[in-house]
Amino acid sequence: MRYRGREVGGEGGVRLAMESALSARDRVGVQDFVLLENYNSEAAFIENLRRRFKENLIYTYIGSVLVSVNPYKELEIYSKQHMERYRGVSFYEISPHIYAVSDNTYRAMRTERRDQCILISGESGAGKTEASKKILLYYAVTCPVSDHMAALRDRLLQSNPVLEAFGNAKTHRNDNSSRFGKYMDVQFDFRGAPLGGHILNYLLEKSRVVHQNHGERNFHIFYQLLEGGEEDLLKRLGLERNPQNYHYLVKGNCPRVSSINDKSDWKAVRKAMQIVDFTDGEVEELLNVIASVLHLGNTQFGEGDDGETRITTETRIRNLSKLLGVDGSALGRALTHKTLLAKGEEMISPLNFEQAASARDALAKAIYGRTFTWLVEKINQSLALKDEAYPGSKGSSVIGLLDIYGFEVFQHNSFEQFCINYCNEKLQQLFIELTLKSEQEEYEAEGIAWETVQYFDNKIICDLVEERHKGIISILDEECLRPGEACDGSFLEKLEDALGGHGHFVTHKLGSGKTRKAMARDEFRLLHYAGEVNYSVHGFLDKNNDLLYRNLKEVMCQSENQIMTQCFHREEVTDQKRPETAATQFKNSLAKLMEILMSKEPSYVRCIKPNDAKQSGRFDEALVRHQVKYLGLMENLRVRRAGFAYRRRYEAFLQRYKSLCPETWPNWHGRLADGVALLVKHLGYKPEEFQLGRSKIFIRFPKTLFTTEDSLEARKPAVALTLQTSWRGYREKAKYRRIRHSVIVIQSGWRGMKARRRAKRRRQASDTIRRFIKGFIYRHEGRCPENEFFLDHRRFSFLVAVRRSLPRTVLDKSWPAPPPALSEVSECLRRLCMQNMVRAYCQRIQPEWKKQMEQKMVASEIFKDQKDCYAQSVSKLFVASRLDNEQINLKVVQTLGNDKVKYGIAVTKYDRRGYKARPRQLLLTATFAVLVAEAKLKQRVDYAALRSISVSSLSDGVFVLHVSNEDNRQKGDVVLQCDHVIEAVTKLAMMADNINSVNVSQDSIRFAVARGREGVVDFTSGSDLRVAKGKKGHLVVTAPQINTR
Ligand SMILES: Nc1ncnc2c1ncn2[C@@H]1O[C@H](COP(=O)(O)OP(=O)(O)O)[C@@H](O)[C@H]1O
Ligand SMILES: [Mg+2]
Repeated sequence: MRYRGREVGGEGGVRLAMESALSARDRVGVQDFVLLENYNSEAAFIENLRRRFKENLIYTYIGSVLVSVNPYKELEIYSKQHMERYRGVSFYEISPHIYAVSDNTYRAMRTERRDQCILISGESGAGKTEASKKILLYYAVTCPVSDHMAALRDRLLQSNPVLEAFGNAKTHRNDNSSRFGKYMDVQFDFRGAPLGGHILNYLLEKSRVVHQNHGERNFHIFYQLLEGGEEDLLKRLGLERNPQNYHYLVKGNCPRVSSINDKSDWKAVRKAMQIVDFTDGEVEELLNVIASVLHLGNTQFGEGDDGETRITTETRIRNLSKLLGVDGSALGRALTHKTLLAKGEEMISPLNFEQAASARDALAKAIYGRTFTWLVEKINQSLALKDEAYPGSKGSSVIGLLDIYGFEVFQHNSFEQFCINYCNEKLQQLFIELTLKSEQEEYEAEGIAWETVQYFDNKIICDLVEERHKGIISILDEECLRPGEACDGSFLEKLEDALGGHGHFVTHKLGSGKTRKAMARDEFRLLHYAGEVNYSVHGFLDKNNDLLYRNLKEVMCQSENQIMTQCFHREEVTDQKRPETAATQFKNSLAKLMEILMSKEPSYVRCIKPNDAKQSGRFDEALVRHQVKYLGLMENLRVRRAGFAYRRRYEAFLQRYKSLCPETWPNWHGRLADGVALLVKHLGYKPEEFQLGRSKIFIRFPKTLFTTEDSLEARKPAVALTLQTSWRGYREKAKYRRIRHSVIVIQSGWRGMKARRRAKRRRQASDTIRRFIKGFIYRHEGRCPENEFFLDHRRFSFLVAVRRSLPRTVLDKSWPAPPPALSEVSECLRRLCMQNMVRAYCQRIQPEWKKQMEQKMVASEIFKDQKDCYAQSVSKLFVASRLDNEQINLKVVQTLGNDKVKYGIAVTKYDRRGYKARPRQLLLTATFAVLVAEAKLKQRVDYAALRSISVSSLSDGVFVLHVSNEDNRQKGDVVLQCDHVIEAVTKLAMMADNINSVNVSQDSIRFAVARGREGVVDFTSGSDLRVAKGKKGHLVVTAPQINTR
């Protein structure tokens, strides 16, 4: 069930793996074994691994499991750029990598807020530790860190060199083999930044301190100290540089290894110790302990005078007492004697040679083993989350990293290998539980018809080792606790008794002939999931008991070395209870580890070792096949494929491929299963190619998925275009909305202003109107506040009107009507205006024109509205004279002498009697008028004698000069006719200075002919002008009427 949970959450991981393979499937082999066509063939599996390995492609997926083959050389795939490429990216286009698993786990932790763990398994030297370091480095580099967490990051990274120096050693399998199990928790806060860490260590292979197989080494730290330690330091520690001088370092006869540089490692370790918060004092004490182990190894025993065992190397004891801060003689005594408690009494008995050596070795192992535990604790303190310093621990999650010793088989395998391989059995069991089983359960849960895949369940082996009362550990413990002569041999017998017949257990005695040949008598064989291993029972009981004599413990309890005081406690000596055996402790700690792992979402890295020679580029097929087999990778793949190469939750499948079907694109709103069904129908999946589960679609052949993936690839441009279009649309729309909003703001501002202005104008207008009306009402009152505006306005508008319509000519009499109050002013103005105009006019007039005007004025005064032809005459200018000088007879001029002719005109003179018409010239001088016929002056009329002049009201040219009869020189009145009667009469009247004497008669003019007699001229209207003597002796003038008056 858990695995399924992981599947749901880890679907991303599967997908990434799957799709990275899809996109790069033209690369070497397949990146995911799930996509292997011939997935049942182990040969094809190994061939794929081999081909990729040859191209340095060391990583391949089986679904979410990462298979890693040790390249045994540095590859250029762990750079910062590589980390960046895998970081947070939906990296399905990227090839498989340990970083992909790291990042996927990290993201799963962050998104699902569930603790994660990465289980790295594989045999010794397969690359587990390297993988775990790469993962840690990835987190250190890529996770966000605040400043005060940067130190933590360094500590996390630097804890490794320290632990490796003290816990790793060169073995046959691996030059840097972890001789302890390590489970490390890295805690992250809710933002994904590392907060703290914690390390759990498992069963250090302590026996290595005192003994190494041929070709192997002790723990690195001893060699590092001797190689790299400064002269002073070595002197202080009483050490010599040559490792060959130390018994504990020569057992494997391999002090130097080409791949290891102890000197530079020493420097790295010293630096790392500083970073993980070791004080100088602590480092000193730690090195004292390490040196003391070497001195202890060189402590020799000899036979004393009394045959007792004694120490022959006193200097070592002195060194030891100095380094460990213990009493030298007490230590010496404790190394050669043992104290027993018998019935509450302490008994001291001497040890023999062998016993003393083993007591010494036990002490060395205990010191080193406990110091290692102290070291881990110390590192844990420096990694610990300091809650008060950082409050972000709430909501934190954890990623666990398990790097535990891998399955190992040596020439001689002892208790340690038994424990290590048991541990690997447990891990395999966990893997089966979490992957194979749950995978199959998933099909069931999804209701998918499928074929059960057979896989080897190693529970039977786990039970064989750990089962209560019946398992090997129980039997071992029993044998250890048993009073009496228990020994390794009796333990083997017990095993044979209890387990004889078990399918996975054989001994020399129980085995067939062939088996016997391959086994020593003191060995038992376990048929592990990873292969057969013969374990020599030699030392099993001792190692399980892990006994340290009481008196040695007592001495150590008194140590002044601070580390030792923390490692050896008084209670141990006083406590009567027997401590748990090593195997049981290990079993229990493994059980706890399983619990821890079970509580987390696991990811797997399965490491494979390509050859036993630690050589790069060598791919030993047989060796790899063996690992593939026991790691259960084929079963893993088969179950994964079990007919279905690929599965995906409906929503994820629909999300990825919905663009391929019009019904599901762009969104499907119905049931997910229906959507997927529609989609696959549209894609033309055949029924045998897929199955629809309850929440997932299962696709049988990789080819089907490839085709779908290819269609998606082809469809992508169109989708991209759609996305682009909608994005652009969205962007433009947003822009438009912004602009529109701005426009509205501006508009409303503007409108508001306009409205306010209008309102203001209206208010002003209404005020004005109101004042106007009020003013109008009070307009007749005297000036008062109510009417002053109105009055001012009236005045103003009147003046404006006057200004606008001022008359342009004197003849224009128009004038705006003034308000009553202004009538006087108006009149003044009008007069002023007129005077002004007249003045201007007059200034413009010429003298001749003035004369003309004066004459015209006189003519007007005389004839206007009196004589019919006057109107016609107005427009005709008066001339100076109608007669040229030549026309006037010279004699006449001479006769006139000084009286200059001022005006002359040709006239017709009618006789007073008979009215005969005679042509004459009428000449006017300054004092008289004279009628001239040729050269004769016929009649002279002095102006003084001119009584009056008569004309008719018609349009004729007749005029009569009435002369006064007192003057005897006068012959009587004169009747004349001329063409320019108005002009001639006007000039005559003006010259005579008698304009008032002109009469206009209506019907007839009476005139004096002679004394007492008078003649009459009658005027009638007719069609044309005629002058004739009428019947009554009157002169009758017929004149056409022009104007009707
Ligand atoms: N990814 C890798 N790249 C290069 N060398 C590696 C890699 N993984 C392992 N090795 C080499 O293999 C050796 C053994 O690896 P290690 O991780 O210590 O094995 P394990 O922990 O499984 O016993 C390393 O010391 C290193 O030389
Ligand atoms: Mg390792």
